[in-house]
Amino acid sequence: MRRISILLLSTLLLPPAAQAQALDYQFFKSRVQPVFLEKRPGHTRCVVCHERGNNAFRLEKLAPGAKVWDEGQSRKNFEMASRLVVPGDPQAGLLLTHPLAPEAGGSAYHSGGRQFASRNDPRWQTLSRWAQGQTR
Ligand code: HEC
Repeated sequence: MRRISILLLSTLLLPPAAQAQALDYQFFKSRVQPVFLEKRPGHTRCVVCHERGNNAFRLEKLAPGAKVWDEGQSRKNFEMASRLVVPGDPQAGLLLTHPLAPEAGGSAYHSGGRQFASRNDPRWQTLSRWAQGQTR
């Protein structure tokens, strides 16, 4: 009985981010990956820089002529991107901070520039919703 109440108590005291939060693969595949592929005026697409290079955000190389990643590649992208967020936290992790403009709370420097001017950018919000564990 005593053991149980101690267990219960430690669960209640854990900060939200420490409670396992599953990241949704389908949401990643259908909504997050398109953000990495999308061409926007004034911005280079994430995939152009990030399917090569030696930083931690390493996307799979698209097959010649392919516009999207296949299933196996999408799974690998999912695993890779999952390590760059803090599941359950809408703002933490390099995937959310690095491409975000510094004045909006992002990293001081990203070689890829200010990909998202603010947290109101719908693309940034898509990444954030995925990190929170939302499924749509
Ligand atoms: C013009 C090239 C370029 C573009 C476009 C670009 N990046 Fe980057 N990015 C880099 C380089 C180079 C680095 C590693 C050096 C640095 O931290 O700036 C990097 C670092 C990162 C990191 C941190 C990885 C680490 O190991 O610290 C993340 C996350 C990231 N980029 C996400 C994105 C996202 C998301 C997009 C698209 C919305 C994007 N980048 C677009 C060049 C680019």
